[in-house]
Amino acid sequence: MSLDNNLSKILIIDFGSQFTQLIARRIRELGVFSEIVSHKKINKKLIKKQNIKGLILSGGPLNVYEKDKFNFDKNLLKIGIPILGICFGHQILSKTLGGKVKKSNHREFGLAEIKKVSNSQLTKNFFNNKNKNNVWMSHADQVSKMPINFKIIASSKNSKLTIIENVKEKYYGVQFHPEVTHTNKGKILLRNFLFFICKVKKNWSSKDQKLKLINQIKEQVGNNKVICGLSGGVDSSVVAQLISKAIGKNLTCIFVNNGLLRKNEEAQVVKTFKKKLKINLVYVNAEKEFIKKLKNVSDPEKKRKIIGNLFIKIFERYAKKIKNVKFLAQGTLYPDLIESKSVTGSQTSKIKSHHNVGGLPKKMKLKLVEPLKFLFKDEVRKLGLELNLSKDIISRHPFPGPGLAIRMPGNITIHKLKILKEADYYFINELKKSHLYDKIWQAYAALLPVKTVGVMGDNRTYEYICLLRAITSEDGMTADFFNFSKEFMQSVSNQIINNIRGINRVVYDVTSKPPSTIELE
Ligand code: XMP
Repeated sequence: MSLDNNLSKILIIDFGSQFTQLIARRIRELGVFSEIVSHKKINKKLIKKQNIKGLILSGGPLNVYEKDKFNFDKNLLKIGIPILGICFGHQILSKTLGGKVKKSNHREFGLAEIKKVSNSQLTKNFFNNKNKNNVWMSHADQVSKMPINFKIIASSKNSKLTIIENVKEKYYGVQFHPEVTHTNKGKILLRNFLFFICKVKKNWSSKDQKLKLINQIKEQVGNNKVICGLSGGVDSSVVAQLISKAIGKNLTCIFVNNGLLRKNEEAQVVKTFKKKLKINLVYVNAEKEFIKKLKNVSDPEKKRKIIGNLFIKIFERYAKKIKNVKFLAQGTLYPDLIESKSVTGSQTSKIKSHHNVGGLPKKMKLKLVEPLKFLFKDEVRKLGLELNLSKDIISRHPFPGPGLAIRMPGNITIHKLKILKEADYYFINELKKSHLYDKIWQAYAALLPVKTVGVMGDNRTYEYICLLRAITSEDGMTADFFNFSKEFMQSVSNQIINNIRGINRVVYDVTSKPPSTIELE
């Protein structure tokens, strides 16, 4: 699997590090295309078929002597392409080239100070004026004997061979993680590797991507028709706009209003895509159908299944009305695809059955168009700007497929939905007014299925609790709750209570993920 074999790139061989995706992102941020491939799936022959300018061997939870647990084709070292080994990658490179690796006497986890020993192109502008730098370590093993013809560039107190190189062969090894932000000037080290050592040219900007992707879509689709499930979120919006630029009226987007959307969302989607961007859009108002099917259902998994299944049914119903469709467009992203995700062999238990608008109607025998499958989320956002989508769409917080249904534990009623839409609207508006919206990864209001007693004026009230959630996160896999000021919380709480009938108490969720999840159900 590859975007384009002619495109020059840096290939990252993944040994299962939690930071592998970060390496790829950092390199792309530096303007160079990079791809990740599992150590199980790469060999010299495959490398030779592509235009690879540099190899990076990632970290990983393995030990270099556990040979049965990983593959490393020694021939990769003989192709003449510069190689940078990071953490485990440094150890496997060293061991393969005649060095030794052993358990560290002192494991290093977290920040460590390293000191320069010799000059190197790799570390140009990397050390401070005392020839030191703080780097992020995470290792229990270390290189204990230098591989043949290498020299030391930097050492830490606990590991002498922290940065090593063999300039002639263009082999470089670092025991720490330059890709994580905690490593001071880590990006400079990666930049040096790319531009001084691999001598690669910049080839990865939003403009490059836009042109390349539009051409690819034209090539793949030809004069055939494409349908696309549009949710109004950033991924499906970017997909729709890309395909529309490539094939114009041969694209039809289907937007299903399931009644579980945020306030005014359906009107905004129709206004943007149909009126402003002039995209063929079929608007399906299926509010009643969804609410009817969800009546008296309070089990979270049942809700998700009902919504997912009904969505497929309705999507198929409308898709069939469009004649001669050959392709279905989806907003699949690179992290969904990376083959080596389970390289460590860990099988995560199923927490929730996620439902997204794409990828559903397999039975329809349509071929897939997945223009974003080589992009990370932040790249999709930049591409969206390049495609003239409004900032409102681009920087929108993620919104789950099952929508407000999973922000309303218990049964779903039109009355409760109305209350929740208003509460969410006040919260999000206040975040925008206070310039906090873009600092937060995701924020929403939820309606809890309990009523509590309050007093308003001189009267007793007995109404619902509104829960507010706001988190910071890199990718939604882990999250921390956002720290609001008392004034902000007070203002939101007052607005919700004063303006919305049906809520008399506002609470803030102060749990991280884990142990909680971001959504309530
Ligand atoms: P959780 O609740 O699993 O959410 O911590 C992680 C991220 O995923 C979003 N989410 C979904 N997105 N379909 C989606 O497209 C779903 O069924 C779904 N469930 C959760 C959630 O909003 C958060 O951003």
